[in-house]
Amino acid sequence: MRSYRLEGSGGTECLALHDEPRPEPKPHEIVLRVRATSLNRRDTMILNGTYPLPPRQGVVPLSDGAGDIVAIGDTVTRFAVGDRVTGSYFARWIDGRIHAGLIDQLGCTLDGMLTEYAVLDEQWAVHLPDHLDWHEAATLTCAGLTGWNAVTGAGIPKPGQWVLVVGSGGVSLFALQFAKLLGCHVAAVTSRGEKADRLRALGADLVISTSDMPQWGAAVRDQTGGIDLVIETGGPATFAQSLIASTLYGHIVLLTLQDAKGGSIQLPAALYQRSLATISRLFVGNRTNLEAMLRAARSIACGPSSKRSSPSPRPSMPTAISSRATSSGR
Ligand SMILES: NC(=O)c1ccc[n+]([C@@H]2O[C@H](COP(=O)([O-])OP(=O)(O)OC[C@H]3O[C@@H](n4cnc5c(N)ncnc54)[C@H](OP(=O)(O)O)[C@@H]3O)[C@@H](O)[C@H]2O)c1
Repeated sequence: MRSYRLEGSGGTECLALHDEPRPEPKPHEIVLRVRATSLNRRDTMILNGTYPLPPRQGVVPLSDGAGDIVAIGDTVTRFAVGDRVTGSYFARWIDGRIHAGLIDQLGCTLDGMLTEYAVLDEQWAVHLPDHLDWHEAATLTCAGLTGWNAVTGAGIPKPGQWVLVVGSGGVSLFALQFAKLLGCHVAAVTSRGEKADRLRALGADLVISTSDMPQWGAAVRDQTGGIDLVIETGGPATFAQSLIASTLYGHIVLLTLQDAKGGSIQLPAALYQRSLATISRLFVGNRTNLEAMLRAARSIACGPSSKRSSPSPRPSMPTAISSRATSSGR
């Protein structure tokens, strides 16, 4: 089989293609035929050597991928051959709070999905809903789960409240759709006006092009009455405007401090002092969160009583929406 492995750092030239024997599972492992993979911002950071968790040299990159199981070890109980699965980002983090012992990540310190056959401990994987095709299913592990936890993790928003998503990246598009699922209004800002129609089609009630209106915070606040929850993915480029757009007691899930050029957030003191917004953080999420997200996706597509194996119609919401699923179904 063919596998890419990370050798060095500095860009895609550090990806070495290897011919390897197809893996045999150890007793607690599953082997999946990888059908599709997708890219996240963290994958470029890992390649460039700027990711906070140093990758293991020789690791198979990519956290996000989906496939069907072709072999299982003797003691595996959670899965059977033929099951459709994806991986959990912090593979060892099953539930509760994270700590240093749970920090291993697929495609960084643990072998990931940029291979024809991936090997996972059975505890590192989850069942996929039947209604998702391989491309959709391959986008859930990082961007999907981050969007889910950003929208549901803090106990807000409530139906009818306003959520702001920043940009049209993977996390934002998932957050947009999950916020609509909860009955919220969604405002979206993007630096690229051509994305406006796509954002509206996914449910955004208000879309602003930041190139046309660089100081967009007050306009968003005026048109929405103030944002209750911001999913802040823009960092230095957008954080001040997000704060201006928020209600006095708003909530901002701050997912990044830095932009691609290494710039970081500069916030005028007067702006900070005028706001009582809560600023919170998260690290993607754990397997229990991922399973909760998939239950929600499954119930939207098939109804609340649907079983994993039941045939299902195509969903209207949420679909997996990463615009950058990278490989075609294999
Ligand atoms: N703390 C955590 O747990 C966590 C988890 C996941 C991600 N993050 C961070 O959150 C941020 C967003 O992550 P992401 O995965 O959503 O990143 P992404 O897909 O790379 O999107 C980031 C931004 O790039 C622009 N963009 C989208 N598609 C593009 C394309 N095809 N070409 C060029 N630009 C494009 C979008 O802004 P415009 O619409 O304005 O163009 C988008 O908001 C990143 O900084 C990431 O590191 C944090």
